[in-house]
Amino acid sequence: MKSHIQSLLEQTLQSLIEQGVVPTDVQARIQVDRTKDKSHGDFATNLAMMLTKAARRNPRELAQLIIDNLPESSHVDKVEIAGPGFINFFIDDNALANQLQEALADPKLGVTLPESQTIVVDYSSPNLAKEMHVGHLRSSIIGDSVVRTLEFLGHKVIRQNHVGDWGTQFGMLLAYMEELQAKDEGKASLELSDLETFYRAAKVRFDESEEFATRARKLVVELQSGDEYCNKLWRQFNDISLSHCHQVYAKLGVSLTRDDVRGESTYNDDLQQVVADLDAQGLLSESEGAKVVFQDEFKTKDGEPLPVIIQKADGGFLYATTDLAAMRYRANVLKADRALYFVDLRQGLHFQQVFSLAKLAKFVPESVSLEHLGFGTMNGEDGRPFKTRSGGVVKLVDLLDEAVERAVELVRSKNPNMDEAEVQHIAKVVGISSVKYADLSKNRTSDYIFSFDQMLSFEGNTAPYLLYAYTRVAGIFKKAQDIDLTDAKIVLEHEKEKDLGTKLGQFNEILSRVSAKGQPHVLCGYLFELAGAFSSFYEACPVLSAETEAQKHSRLQLAKLTAQTLKQGLALLGIETLEKM
Ligand code: ARG
Repeated sequence: MKSHIQSLLEQTLQSLIEQGVVPTDVQARIQVDRTKDKSHGDFATNLAMMLTKAARRNPRELAQLIIDNLPESSHVDKVEIAGPGFINFFIDDNALANQLQEALADPKLGVTLPESQTIVVDYSSPNLAKEMHVGHLRSSIIGDSVVRTLEFLGHKVIRQNHVGDWGTQFGMLLAYMEELQAKDEGKASLELSDLETFYRAAKVRFDESEEFATRARKLVVELQSGDEYCNKLWRQFNDISLSHCHQVYAKLGVSLTRDDVRGESTYNDDLQQVVADLDAQGLLSESEGAKVVFQDEFKTKDGEPLPVIIQKADGGFLYATTDLAAMRYRANVLKADRALYFVDLRQGLHFQQVFSLAKLAKFVPESVSLEHLGFGTMNGEDGRPFKTRSGGVVKLVDLLDEAVERAVELVRSKNPNMDEAEVQHIAKVVGISSVKYADLSKNRTSDYIFSFDQMLSFEGNTAPYLLYAYTRVAGIFKKAQDIDLTDAKIVLEHEKEKDLGTKLGQFNEILSRVSAKGQPHVLCGYLFELAGAFSSFYEACPVLSAETEAQKHSRLQLAKLTAQTLKQGLALLGIETLEKM
């Protein structure tokens, strides 16, 4: 999905080939790109250079032939040959203005919807034995932003919160829960209100008492064999733990609901079948008593074969086994065209191995795209993984609360007379969106440094900057409430109007990039540039005091589309806008 004009240009070139005006070459792909530098026009193509062999003409000659045969277009103002044979297109400002006019009248802001796909998105996916920590922040907010974008583009999105709700550690937790409940029901639920402490206390008991440890091991076996009492304890535990997660989602504005939870335990009954199916296809080998699969393309650094372990010698299944079962479910039951995984980059090898195995074993059809969209680590200002001052893991809730507290100070200092309820509301939006935006605006594959000072700054590519930019644009309308814009026409005359118009016309291509690559930072960068283009426009082009009524109306329309695009763009990032701050 590209800009409207870009696709039109590509279609025109395609038809020249189909008409036989230009020879074709199976290797050549018609591509019209946006130029970096305005002196080269708005769009350019290297088609003439690619077809030079097939045409047996030099590229500049071929470029001229193409230009001579271009049909008269209402979109293109001028076409030029540049350098070795590039063709540069200069867009007609009226065509752009019309495109913007259409966008204004469209609830989707002129975004052309691609063919709808079913897309399964695995994100957040914390482990329920412990409290969510900062490591889950990235998955939750990057995943949620991509989900929102995909839905906006009309795809059927199925969220999957693949929580870690299974495994040997649950024996220990259940044994401890049982022990506390025996003493006092209230005490058990009180201690569970802090999972971190609960986990540590259970671990202490496990390490200090052989009797406790034996009980824990027994409980796991009973749990796995479906014992009703154990399952009840386990459900209670998970329920409390999940409600902690959903408190965090609510605070963060992450759209996951309880219905999206499909934890590891739900695949439990399929695991034996996974093993049997791999076995039937002759894919299983034995290695030190364990059942494993070797795939030729995976080797250790020393060239040793690197297997996927499917079942341990003691009969236990692994993370990979569950992922194989989950992939099969996503492809065959949920009918995914794409399955996206927003998981730490450090699990890269795991996903490469299980993806290729799922295809090899035909658990997932070749046509389904399995994509690990990994992310780097969030580091503290010392450049090391984020820790509390005392060296512990930082709880996500604490981090968000601190962001809001700091935002309260910030908002108060800017508005000493604002009433307290309003300060609190604005601070909540600013604090939370700053944390989210700081994360979303970085290329997800890189590590980044978490800095409250930076994310709460009004300068640079930050949430406060964009939220403020939005209030400024929205502010113009407060003063123009009585102006009727029904027949107002956009006209692009001033250089800055054209720049702003060009930016506005790119929303479409930006969303298609976010959707193809799962990279919200592309959208952040775009919104930042859009806000910048608006500022330059606003400095150079008076709106309410424009020279003519027509000019005033046109500029108000540009401001309106800017406001709508900023608001929609931020909403796709999961960020609420403010009318005032
Ligand atoms: N629970 C895992 C963790 O916290 C992430 C799960 C990601 N999803 C998956 N299908 N493996 O590391």
